[in-house]
Amino acid sequence: MDFKFTEEQLAVKDAARDFAQNVLKPGVIERDIHAKFPAEEIKQLGQLGFFGMMVDPKYGGGGMDTVSYVLAMEEISKVDASTSVCMSVNNSLYNWGIERFGTEEQKESYLRPVAEGQAIGAFCLSEPEAGSDATSQRTTAEDKGDYYLLNGTKNWITNGSSASFYLVMCQTDKEKGHRGINCLIVEKGMEGFIVGEKEDKMGIRGSDTHTLIFNDVKVPKKNRIGEEGFGFKFAMQVLGGGRIGIASQALGIASGALELAIQYSKERQTFGKEIHKHQAIAFKLADMATQVEAARLMTLKAAHMKDQGLEFTAQASMAKLFASQIAQSVTTEAVQIHGGYGYVREYHVERLMRDAKITQIYEGTSEIQKIVISREILKD
Ligand code: CAA
Repeated sequence: MDFKFTEEQLAVKDAARDFAQNVLKPGVIERDIHAKFPAEEIKQLGQLGFFGMMVDPKYGGGGMDTVSYVLAMEEISKVDASTSVCMSVNNSLYNWGIERFGTEEQKESYLRPVAEGQAIGAFCLSEPEAGSDATSQRTTAEDKGDYYLLNGTKNWITNGSSASFYLVMCQTDKEKGHRGINCLIVEKGMEGFIVGEKEDKMGIRGSDTHTLIFNDVKVPKKNRIGEEGFGFKFAMQVLGGGRIGIASQALGIASGALELAIQYSKERQTFGKEIHKHQAIAFKLADMATQVEAARLMTLKAAHMKDQGLEFTAQASMAKLFASQIAQSVTTEAVQIHGGYGYVREYHVERLMRDAKITQIYEGTSEIQKIVISREILKD
């Protein structure tokens, strides 16, 4: 095993760190307070190539590996998880899904603009009554010959109002259950497509999370991904890669909190010495660092396996499960180390603690990851 990163991978990590520390950090508290989407920052990040990192250069992407993506996601998430979830949905759900399963025409029309940082994509699976139970899609797409008539509601959609293109899972043939589900590419502006209410969230408050409503939207057949009825398997395969993205987000939230706690422990004095010189604090930091390191290794291993073309479903779910768990404990301890200062916005750690929670919920709850992992390890 080679634990040394390449020069290219380190350069990506450094560029992401510079951007996070110099561009994202100054306004992150204000954006959190006012639940403001980082539109200008997202535009810049797209122009720098971070939204098409892994896409083949022939479609306008950076052609980088998943390991580089994890390194960049960790650095962005240390500072601003609202920005990193937009980056994660674009790279690992939207782009990868179209690049892997789309037609050449779909790639030109819908992948290139996102890979080049000109547009944002969204992934729409969750519904009011289909979150974890994703096969129970109520959104319908009636086959009308050369188009589908799309009706229904999607919930908690990341990039809900800022996206230009949406991958929408929908039921075409109820009799066939999950084999009757399709994925359609829907464009903002199609008649009958309404962006609904924005969610007022506990964490990742800057991210743009909306309900979407489809009222008799005519979606051309050529916008279907894959064969008729491929939509559910498409969603499951795409979510496998997506879980590496959320694992790296959770890792970044945790390692960001750890960095802040270490820095604070060297500045703050109690009982006549810096607090890291008290064993009570030093031991907390040691535990936090150990948890972060384990989450980093698991996430990078899943990314490396994906890059090698190996089966990575279990490793991605394990990394997400573990990284999202330690993001809870590490951010909580970071607040504890900061004492009263940790409980106020100015010191950043309370936001990281709120942001951490969503990583145990989206792209499959922790309980869903355990279903996926147990099925994989119990397979004959
Ligand atoms: N790859 C390919 N096919 C897969 C697959 C995979 N990884 N996982 C399942 N399938 C296939 C199965 O083989 C099966 O097909 P066949 O019947 O033809 O053999 C079919 O899909 C149905 O699978 P299951 O019977 O296992 O389905 P299930 O109802 O038991 O559910 C589940 C499986 C794992 C619980 C799944 O429903 C799931 O992952 N749920 C969570 C959904 C989720 O993650 N939602 C998050 C929304 S996206 C989001 O949050 C994005 C964002 O904005 C940040």
